[in-house]
Amino acid sequence: MKTSSKKFVYLTVFVIITSQLTLSSCFNMKSDTTMKISENFFGRIEEKEIKIFELENPKGSKVSITNFGAIVQSLYVRDREGNFEDIVLGFDSLEDYIQQTSYFGAIAGRYANRIAFAQFTLDGKTYQLSANDGNHHLHGGFKGFDKVIWDARPYLDTTGACLELHYISKDGEEGYPGTLDVYVTYCFTLDDELKIYYQATTDHPTILNLTHHSYFNLSGFTQRNILEHELIIHADSFTPVDSTLIPTGEIVPVKNTVFDFTSPRPIGSRIREVFNKKTGYDNNYVLNTTDSTVHPAAKAYDPESGRILEVFTDQPGLQFYSGNFLDGKIKGKNGKIYQQHDGFCLETQHFPDSPNHPEFPSTVLRPGQIFRSLTIYKFSTDR
Ligand code: BGC
Repeated sequence: MKTSSKKFVYLTVFVIITSQLTLSSCFNMKSDTTMKISENFFGRIEEKEIKIFELENPKGSKVSITNFGAIVQSLYVRDREGNFEDIVLGFDSLEDYIQQTSYFGAIAGRYANRIAFAQFTLDGKTYQLSANDGNHHLHGGFKGFDKVIWDARPYLDTTGACLELHYISKDGEEGYPGTLDVYVTYCFTLDDELKIYYQATTDHPTILNLTHHSYFNLSGFTQRNILEHELIIHADSFTPVDSTLIPTGEIVPVKNTVFDFTSPRPIGSRIREVFNKKTGYDNNYVLNTTDSTVHPAAKAYDPESGRILEVFTDQPGLQFYSGNFLDGKIKGKNGKIYQQHDGFCLETQHFPDSPNHPEFPSTVLRPGQIFRSLTIYKFSTDR
């Protein structure tokens, strides 16, 4: 793995995944919406119980989310024949999630993606963050939001089955100023949408960029890699990066480049022409929007299974990452070995390294302001 993250050692980790296991505490709630939530024991970190919640709709689509790292552990949606299969990469055990450095299914923060040389200046003061990606800071540092324990509150409402996750990130955590109070709420709807609501406040000026880091593979159970998936990204320009994946500061049109996904084409069609740190797409796209309402950002389609994923967001950017660093060394769910391009991420976000690029949209959050944002992943089929 490219990230040199520290290994986290916790005293006891129980590997529990199915609802049938003895240590599980399970409840079902039904309401008029006929959505269902169940809650199970997933493991233990020191004295704390880690849980896994399953949000299920009447169609039979379901998502499992743990309060460790706010991680989406599985997501079952049907293909065109009606077969429900898991379309996200991940692990069966909590221990594997504790050890991972790929951010499978997690919420990345405080600052998703990279900050050059792990430094930024705000109101005249320079802050040093932890450098967990060579000299740079990636996805919040060694112990980012993907590695912390969130307080969880499941509930049903008119939106669907929801899981509110809450975390207080203390002043100085991973080098960031200000105590940040953050909520991430996942809601799974009757229409197979996974809605992610973000909310954060601070007691001191700080910076913030939150994203969701699921690796999708619409074939189901990672039966095929994602190179045949067709992709559209609603972006006429992107932010090129240097050899260490830090934006150069330019905003460049995608037209006549391998980065152009303005009309649908297979992810693999020109992927070998992209020379990033590791071959493949790993760039921020500047979404075609003029306001901060929720708008279409991207659409992926697997012609073989018929599954479709659409992404909507109010954020200005989208990181398209084609799983370049998956290297055949990770054993995932059901013993599946993940190879390069076995999954792709569509991460709604502010632009990487914005705190060092005043020309990019601001990521500063000040006391008294409330950061609010919504991203929707919607699943369907071609018939
Ligand atoms: C980044 C990649 C990074 C990956 C971590 C993505 O969001 O763009 O460069 O390797 O996360 O697994």
